Amino acid sequence: MRKTLRYRLLHRLRRVLGLRRDDDFDWMLYDHKYRQELEELEREFTLILAAGDYELADGSLRQASPDKKPLHPNARLLYETIVQLQPASVREFGCGGGDHLANLCTLLPGLEARGLDRARGQLAVLAERHPALVAHVRQHDIAEPLGPDDSPVDVSYTQAVLMHIHTGDAHLRGLEACSVRRGAPSS
Ligand SMILES: C[S@@+](CC[C@H](N)C(=O)[O-])C[C@H]1O[C@@H](n2cnc3c(N)ncnc32)[C@H](O)[C@@H]1O
Repeated sequence: MRKTLRYRLLHRLRRVLGLRRDDDFDWMLYDHKYRQELEELEREFTLILAAGDYELADGSLRQASPDKKPLHPNARLLYETIVQLQPASVREFGCGGGDHLANLCTLLPGLEARGLDRARGQLAVLAERHPALVAHVRQHDIAEPLGPDDSPVDVSYTQAVLMHIHTGDAHLRGLEACSVRRGAPSS
């Protein structure tokens, strides 16, 4: 309750000071809301996979242990698509709490996982939820070009990010960055 009040006050203050952009959320304060959303989703869905929970058969992820809650349909589609591509490396644009990166590492052992997110608070959520995750994760605004240390990957993806960005053409720049092919800018 106190946290919610603090969030609302900070949110108003940042708006008054002109620090908030036109996106759906104030990303610098978003982790508070995100944690609540994860709690709600966890009541209905399996958010974090353990090895053996699901197996891929004929392109579909099937529940291997019966006591598990289903996957969220977005997550299912994302994982089924990526697992079929059998990439050696992936990068998530706007990786938030890191569940997708962690789950893909569970489904594809040995995967090189990379994640970018603009919000330090969100990367703190990732560190809490996935302390054992071996991934290259860093703070970065996806509307900006990737840096020289951002190695090319086999598969780039983003989920529930671009639709929330409404500041100028930042969503298009994010899409452009996500669409860069291995070693070459997209045309
Ligand atoms: C709704 S959450 C989704 C997180 C994760 N993809 C998922 O599916 O759980 C949106 C995420 O995008 C991040 N984000 C928003 N705008 C961004 C930007 N311009 N650059 C990088 N990350 C951004 C936010 O910080 C937040 O973690």
